[in-house]
Amino acid sequence: MDIVVETRGLGKNFTKVIALADLNLTLKQGEIFGLLGPNGSGKTTLIKILLGVLFPTKGSVRVLGQDPRDISIKYRIGFLPETPQYYPFLNPVEVLDFFARLFNIPKKLRKIRIEELINLVSLSDYRKRRLGAFSKGMLQRMGLAVSLINDPDFLLLDEPTVGLDPLGAFQVRDLLLKLKAEGKTILLCSHLLSEVESACDKIAVLYKGVLVKEGRLSELLKKDDEIQINIKTKEPAIRDKILALIKNIEETEVDIGYPNQSLDELFRSIIKDSENVK
Ligand SMILES: Nc1ncnc2c1ncn2[C@@H]1O[C@H](COP(=O)(O)OP(=O)(O)O)[C@@H](O)[C@H]1O
Ligand SMILES: [Mg+2]
Repeated sequence: MDIVVETRGLGKNFTKVIALADLNLTLKQGEIFGLLGPNGSGKTTLIKILLGVLFPTKGSVRVLGQDPRDISIKYRIGFLPETPQYYPFLNPVEVLDFFARLFNIPKKLRKIRIEELINLVSLSDYRKRRLGAFSKGMLQRMGLAVSLINDPDFLLLDEPTVGLDPLGAFQVRDLLLKLKAEGKTILLCSHLLSEVESACDKIAVLYKGVLVKEGRLSELLKKDDEIQINIKTKEPAIRDKILALIKNIEETEVDIGYPNQSLDELFRSIIKDSENVK
């Protein structure tokens, strides 16, 4: 499998701060990699180094097999900044056209891709509205569309769900999985542990510039000494029978409860119902 990012002993110092210390990280093609950590832990600094706009103080870094400052890899990279900002007098179609031209995308393909992306991030109702009148969440959606304009192989997303409503966050998660299925590699930075992180194959946790934990999400979340059985029945007789069976097992602590749906699930189903009524 191809290696998309490799850092060895990577360090970055600012005048008074060690933003990253001795970072060894490998991202492979097709992975969704979640970089988690509280504010100020070095996530954005790492992204900027991978983009070639900040230079490391120590160590080495390769992106798509090249030095991140190499212009030739820019065509294969998409980036969503922490706070996307665009000319306020442009509308989404004009912004996407601007970036598509920077990538020399031919006119015909440009038109098709712009419409696809506007639909993908649910901005079709606002396609001709100036960005100066956009909310934070709408700008975030705009940023996501821009990050995909060149159909990148490697996508870097800095806090992609900040400012998004839960429905938006859920759509981002779906989008990430779709991009992964196309073979893309995604680095996702976040200080929130929301729906989106559950899309990650691997995560790394940074704390004050130091990598404190790394691994496959499924392995990190697994509890070896517990099993969970979910039974769906409206029949009280069946329920009692099952409960009696489980309760009688010796030397086993059994915790019986009735699952709630999460607030997030509830919110999404309320919105979906409201949309259907409309
Ligand atoms: N340009 C800069 N000059 C000085 N210090 C910086 C600069 N950029 C980031 N830092 C510092 O580096 C540390 C890591 O910041 P950052 O990478 O933005 O964290 P995160 O994205 O995880 O919130 C913080 O202590 C921050 O104040
Ligand atoms: Mg940041």
